[in-house]
Amino acid sequence: ATRIILDVDTGIDDALALLYAVKSDDIQLEGVTTVFGNVSVEQATVNTLQVLELAGAPASVPVVKGADRPLVRKWEGPVVHIHGDNGLGGFRLPPPSRQAAEGRAAEYLVRKINELGRDLTLVFVGRLTNLAHALAIDPSIAGKVNRLVLMGGALRAPGNVTPTAEANIWGDPEAAHRVFESGMPITMVGLDVTMQTVMKEEHVALVKRKAGTAGERTAEFIEQILAYYFSAYEKQNGFYGSPLHDLLAVAVAGDPTLVGTEELAVKIETKGELSSGATIGDLRGKPDYAVNASVCVSVDSERFLSRFIDVLASGAPS
Ligand code: BDR
Ligand code: CA
Repeated sequence: ATRIILDVDTGIDDALALLYAVKSDDIQLEGVTTVFGNVSVEQATVNTLQVLELAGAPASVPVVKGADRPLVRKWEGPVVHIHGDNGLGGFRLPPPSRQAAEGRAAEYLVRKINELGRDLTLVFVGRLTNLAHALAIDPSIAGKVNRLVLMGGALRAPGNVTPTAEANIWGDPEAAHRVFESGMPITMVGLDVTMQTVMKEEHVALVKRKAGTAGERTAEFIEQILAYYFSAYEKQNGFYGSPLHDLLAVAVAGDPTLVGTEELAVKIETKGELSSGATIGDLRGKPDYAVNASVCVSVDSERFLSRFIDVLASGAPS
């Protein structure tokens, strides 16, 4: 199994990513770090603790709180229209019995990367702020970790916050810039592939059916939060259903054969008036800069969806 630290701004698709990370047998969840984004870092931390508890994750999996704002910009506030007032579409889980670990996410990341080295894969599904802070503390971690798999960016696909930028990069472009320039091996799971993995009501019904009574509570949670998410996306896309951005990144960390990639030199736009937060891949064949990312450009969505349904419907954590 791939040993991962998962960095989240728990939101709806982040919650599904957490469930998948706990339950999938090709992932071993070492720890979770939290960041502002869809919600405040405080809310993201509470949501994460609650979801881990629901998933039956061992209490030994630490949840470490991270940044409450971007490196240099102001945080724009919670994304209520997509993730609801509490980040979980208004669904209230019971108060968690576990607590966040002592310390800060950036320091935790530095420590774990130095400890586990190539045995560790980072999966980031929110702003890259915690990793940028970690690189500032110890730049050598870039060459030690196995790989960073991130949900963010858009190569040929349009953005989802602006015409050119995806939310996780747009929300802290300076942090993304630092990470993309660090030399850390990157797999970019962006809108080019996540927008091709659309979940609909029929898939939710399958999860419910397969989960049976053993997985009833989790299936109910999935159904409720996705009902909110589907309605939010319906307003944008005109059909009832949604992509599962963050979940795809975790699935790719566990099984890279789900996607096809292109090796590219990717730069992060931090200044543009219309293009701040754009991920600009040099598609000319002979790039001006060093190749720094495997960019996901195709995905086996059928296999991903059926795998995801099976994993989420399974009762026990792996
Ligand atoms: C990303 O933005 C957030 O709303 C989601 O959780 C995901 O990480 C998609 O652009
Ligand atoms: Ca997210």
